[in-house]
Amino acid sequence: MIFRQLFEPVSSTYTYLLGCEHTGQAVLIDPVISSMERDLAEVRSLGLTLAYSIDTHIHADHITAALELKKATGSRIAAPAWDRLPCTDVGIEEGKPFQVGSIVLQPLHTPGHTDGHFAYLLGDRVFTGDALLIDGCGRTDFQNGDAETLYKSVTEKLFKLPDECLVYPAHDYQGRRVSCIGQEKSRNPRLGKERTLEEFKAIMANLKLPYPTFIDYAVPGNRQCGVCPSEVPDDLRKYCVQMTCSPQG
Ligand SMILES: [Fe+2]
Repeated sequence: MIFRQLFEPVSSTYTYLLGCEHTGQAVLIDPVISSMERDLAEVRSLGLTLAYSIDTHIHADHITAALELKKATGSRIAAPAWDRLPCTDVGIEEGKPFQVGSIVLQPLHTPGHTDGHFAYLLGDRVFTGDALLIDGCGRTDFQNGDAETLYKSVTEKLFKLPDECLVYPAHDYQGRRVSCIGQEKSRNPRLGKERTLEEFKAIMANLKLPYPTFIDYAVPGNRQCGVCPSEVPDDLRKYCVQMTCSPQG
């Protein structure tokens, strides 16, 4: 398999490029609209053709590139069936492997950050979305989020994967790229170290995070598989404008 981890700096999002060496098909997990040209250039430079985009959840901090990628390349849009988005071509469900060439993702319903959130297991690695971040996790105070539900998703599903399983998160704000299940179980300050449910709920209830800057634009835009709302204020246009530099992800 061909694999690239690409970084989108405005929302500190990781997009994952998976390529099948046999069929030349590629999949982008959680592509971001502002970096889609960079991502497509990467797909092409590897001699691949984009077959699918697939999102882990309805994002609140960036606009998915799913729809624009479809317009540009004819790629199909896969997303959790839970969210019932009419713009989705393939609805992802747990227990139904998602296969593109030799790439086989096992979808894991991991609600708590959002109710429709999925992680994707691929052999020795898992794309954890915002359910489990390196030394952290996504917030649980919006989009039908719920701390108790997230605790169960992580401890009863993700932490049941092998300790060696690599953890590739949807974000990192400090430049960390990859972890593993064993490391998160032993070190994650919110969910690891055998934290109890009550401890986790108290941590999440006391984060005192600011209201998410882009959520009121991102969620409606992402419910359409990635439309930048026309009324985005100037200070938020950066979320929709194409990235001009090409940092190596
Ligand atoms: Fe998120």
